[in-house]
Amino acid sequence: MKMHILTGSLILTFMASGNAIAVGPGKTLEFKGSSMGTVLFDGSAHKNAGLTCSDCHNPDMFPKMKQGTVKITMNDLYAGKYCGRCHNGKKAFLIKSNCTRCHHKTDSK
Ligand code: HEC
Ligand code: HEC
Ligand code: HEC
Repeated sequence: MKMHILTGSLILTFMASGNAIAVGPGKTLEFKGSSMGTVLFDGSAHKNAGLTCSDCHNPDMFPKMKQGTVKITMNDLYAGKYCGRCHNGKKAFLIKSNCTRCHHKTDSK
């Protein structure tokens, strides 16, 4: 429990120090490989949900801080991998009933 308080204050410190690590929070990644529409991943929304970098950037999930290093399929997500580790209706909204919270239709392509 103490660890959580410590992590919280570290996050505040990061926020106060501005854009030193601007790429994680403050940035939105676009995954354009799906016919369902572009997936938007908002770094700030996840940071504001109380997550730290290592909640996702760890060997089991997204080891590298570089886009495109992990091939994500819906079967993986339904099986509880990657985004599905949290988007299971418990930690975060359920994937099955919320396609359009991640996938956004765009006019082009
Ligand atoms: C938590 C976010 C999220 C939700 C919710 C979600 N998806 Fe996805 N989906 C992704 C990501 C990330 C990819 C990978 C896209 C890429 O690589 O460009 C993907 C890829 C896909 C793909 C192409 C790859 C594949 O596995 O077929 C399809 C089709 C797809 N999603 C359909 C759906 C449908 C239908 C739903 C709702 C039942 C849904 N998605 C809900 C994040 C999500
Ligand atoms: C909720 C999950 C999650 C959290 C939390 C998270 N990231 Fe990421 N991050 C991702 C995903 C997913 C990718 C894309 C990985 C891939 O495609 O292989 C990514 C990619 C990145 C990239 C590469 C961006 C690019 O344009 O290629 C950087 C840099 C990064 N993250 C930094 C951070 C930092 C710093 C933090 C903590 C402040 C953080 N991330 C927290 C999920 C997360
Ligand atoms: C470590 C846990 C975790 C992982 C991994 C994760 N998310 Fe989330 N996500 C959350 C939490 C917590 C929220 C906020 C609660 C909610 O909206 O259900 C959230 C919220 C969101 C939202 C809503 C953002 C908004 O603007 O309100 C989207 C969209 C989303 N996630 C997409 C993704 C995608 C795409 C991935 C994979 C690339 C992913 N998430 C991976 C925990 C996670």
